[in-house]
Amino acid sequence: MNVIKKLAGSIREYKKATIITPIAVALEVVVECIIPLVMAKFIDELTNVVNAEPIDFVIDGVILLVLAVLGFAFGTISGRYCSIASCGFAKNLRSDLFLKVQTFSFANIDKFSTSSLVTRLTTDITNVQMAFMMIIRIAVRAPFMAIFSLVMAFSINWKMALVFTVIMPVLAFVLIMGIRIVHPLFEKVFHKYDRLNESVEENIKGIRVVKSYVREDYEINKFDTTAKEVKKDFLKAEKIIALAMPTMQFAMYTGIIVVSIVGAFLIVNTFQGIDGTGNYIWGELSVGGLSSIISYGMQSLMSMLMVAMTLIFITIAQTSSERIAEVLDEESTLKNPENPLMNVEDGSIEFKNVSFKYSKEAERLALSNVNLSIKAGETVGIIGGTGSAKSTLVQLIPRIYDVTEGEVLVGGKNVKEYDLATLRNQVAMVLQKNVLFSGTVRENLKWGDENATDEEIIKYAKLAQAHDFIIAHQDGYDRYIEQGGSNVSGGQKQRLCIARALLKKPKILILDDSTSAVDTKTDSLIRKAFKEEIPNTTKIIIAQRIASVEDADKIIVIDNGEIVDIGKHDELLKRNNIYQEVYYSQNKEGGAK
Ligand SMILES: Nc1ncnc2c1ncn2[C@@H]1O[C@H](COP(=O)(O)OP(=O)(O)O)[C@@H](O)[C@H]1O
Ligand SMILES: [Mg+2]
Repeated sequence: MNVIKKLAGSIREYKKATIITPIAVALEVVVECIIPLVMAKFIDELTNVVNAEPIDFVIDGVILLVLAVLGFAFGTISGRYCSIASCGFAKNLRSDLFLKVQTFSFANIDKFSTSSLVTRLTTDITNVQMAFMMIIRIAVRAPFMAIFSLVMAFSINWKMALVFTVIMPVLAFVLIMGIRIVHPLFEKVFHKYDRLNESVEENIKGIRVVKSYVREDYEINKFDTTAKEVKKDFLKAEKIIALAMPTMQFAMYTGIIVVSIVGAFLIVNTFQGIDGTGNYIWGELSVGGLSSIISYGMQSLMSMLMVAMTLIFITIAQTSSERIAEVLDEESTLKNPENPLMNVEDGSIEFKNVSFKYSKEAERLALSNVNLSIKAGETVGIIGGTGSAKSTLVQLIPRIYDVTEGEVLVGGKNVKEYDLATLRNQVAMVLQKNVLFSGTVRENLKWGDENATDEEIIKYAKLAQAHDFIIAHQDGYDRYIEQGGSNVSGGQKQRLCIARALLKKPKILILDDSTSAVDTKTDSLIRKAFKEEIPNTTKIIIAQRIASVEDADKIIVIDNGEIVDIGKHDELLKRNNIYQEVYYSQNKEGGAK
């Protein structure tokens, strides 16, 4: 119930269409129910042709025509508004979901996985849209029609109408049983859908790597397995659903045959004869009566069929709507404080007894008991093996994740006290796995500052040593970057990402292994430019190469989630094992690699 309420919140400006649809549907039903009545009269007049006045045929014919036109009009209106309401609802729901995802922290995204979020935004919403359409149109129409038709049938001849009523509960029972079997099957299917999308997303994103490692066969196999599993489960569910239709039809035609036979006997056996003026004197049932009972019976069973279809769609959509509601219900793990600080004093950083793990369920601390103090304007290097938690450590500074214990201070204040946007504008971070977006070089750089002038853009591109290769291309700053930056080299991409971060003019700049693909000479030029051009910015540089951090004010050596040493290059080289190991391994291989 909560789920429905949650989703219904997205109807908004389509409320009118959502209400008009069932009203038009109801009017359509009324018209359709009157038609068989007039038809019965019409037929009885026809069988009584000797005595009927021609004018009666004309009047009834006109009435039938008017009713048909009305039915058409209401049908058109309901169909039109139904489309408006359901498409609009889906649009709103989709943007609500998208907006919600935008508020998610990294921790929230970790929880759902990107591909599952994509499925929820696409397939799941389409399912809900279908169900919504069925509900406002058919769920109103069908029960209304079924009841109305039954009442009419009973009023004509209760004995015959009874035949139809016997069939109904039997069908209802079969349906309910079917749905109870099918629902869990669909839940399973959607779970596998996520996996399928995961596989597609990962493969397509990494298609270049897949090809260069000649892993196509492996990937095809992996995809095939998941696709087959989805097929298997879908088939199971669909097989059961497929049974519903023929069952219903079988019941319907059986009903018609039984009614026709019983009706024929009833008409013949109770027929009273023809009176002196040639009028037919019917007994319990007339021919017209039989024809309308069959019409009403058909209508009510057809409506049951519709109810069945709707229920099936609702069953499918139930799983989908739960999945959507789950996302809508998810609270971002990062919240803006009540009275946020809107200004970051300076670029100083302090870690006080900080421990961190990625999720509540995680057994292992990713960081334990970190204490650290960095003054504004300092250059700090971080060295450590892969998986030692270097990225984890720096992600706590712009509050990409919240600490589990202890506190992180920026500019002397706990990061949790700042307005998130303010904090992140002042703490620019070039992520290890950074991406560019499709658009020109200039557009990409303007992510850092949308109001940046061309001079500023060029200034910071120069600082990041990106200017030269940008203008070497004929389109210069208007060069088009493909999605993910696939048409620039790794080192070029890194430099563009650095320039983009610099354009924020942050008080703290964090480079997470951001020059790994840049040659050593350019790397040192970048560091030189940093020193000269942005001396007051605190710079944190995570690097694999000792050369990248050698001249830092202090170097942090991190191992297995703990800080093992902090010092200058010379000090560490004298006393720290890990540092020595890294240094000598790189120098033996002929300097920095
Ligand atoms: N999003 C995440 N969810 C769960 N564990 C993670 C996540 N990111 C990193 N880890 C784990 O935290 C540890 C430290 O990772 P990371 O900080 O990326 O190391 P480094 O940057 O030093 O290579 C690793 O064991 C890694 O598997
Ligand atoms: Mg890392």
